[in-house]
Amino acid sequence: MKFFIDTANLKEIKEASDMGILDGVTTNPSLMAKEGIKGNDAVIKTYIDICEVVQGPVSAEVISTDFDGIVREGEHLASLHEHIVVKVPMIKEGIKAIKYLNGKGIKTNCTLVFSPGQAILAAKAGATYVSPFMGRLDDINYDGVELVEQIVYIYDNYGYTTEVLAASVRSPLHIIRVAEAGADVVTAPFSALVKLFDHPLTDKGLAQFLSDYKKVQEAEKSST
Ligand code: G3P
Repeated sequence: MKFFIDTANLKEIKEASDMGILDGVTTNPSLMAKEGIKGNDAVIKTYIDICEVVQGPVSAEVISTDFDGIVREGEHLASLHEHIVVKVPMIKEGIKAIKYLNGKGIKTNCTLVFSPGQAILAAKAGATYVSPFMGRLDDINYDGVELVEQIVYIYDNYGYTTEVLAASVRSPLHIIRVAEAGADVVTAPFSALVKLFDHPLTDKGLAQFLSDYKKVQEAEKSST
């Protein structure tokens, strides 16, 4: 399973990239706003900066909701850097635009997907990625992981090549559950990603090893 980070924070992206486990980045307008990025030029610069740090796909979201606008924005975003994947909302005009952009060889990520039916439409249009939003479904008492399982199952039935990109991750457990489900990619906030490291027995075991090795060194000193 590929690991993407869901952020527009360059420091977090660099840190995840330095760990050697980062395959790509997803962003959205809310994440840009969260970083205090102001104006279109600053957004474009952020995309280019991210693309230069990460050797992998970087999702950049359109804000148009009509076919012509989505295509115009998508072509512009795709021209910025070879890593750019154009993120398009799951609406009728978005699906039409995904079909068109796919025909032009531009990669797309169909976002705001909350049902298996929407995921089928994204695959039929030729989206490179489909982004089911797990956390937001959990928030309204639906099982977000179950949606990822359904999409993986359906795509396998028909050999759709669209990659299932599990999004709206809230916890490290989400990452593990979608790995079990067979998601191709998970995009997680930095906070959830780093929690995968944590286990109290690892900390306890390491402390024990280090303190026992001190005894080995002290024994050597006292024997010389
Ligand atoms: O990239 C989009 C998605 O991951 C959003 O997550 O936490 O705003 O539901 P969230």
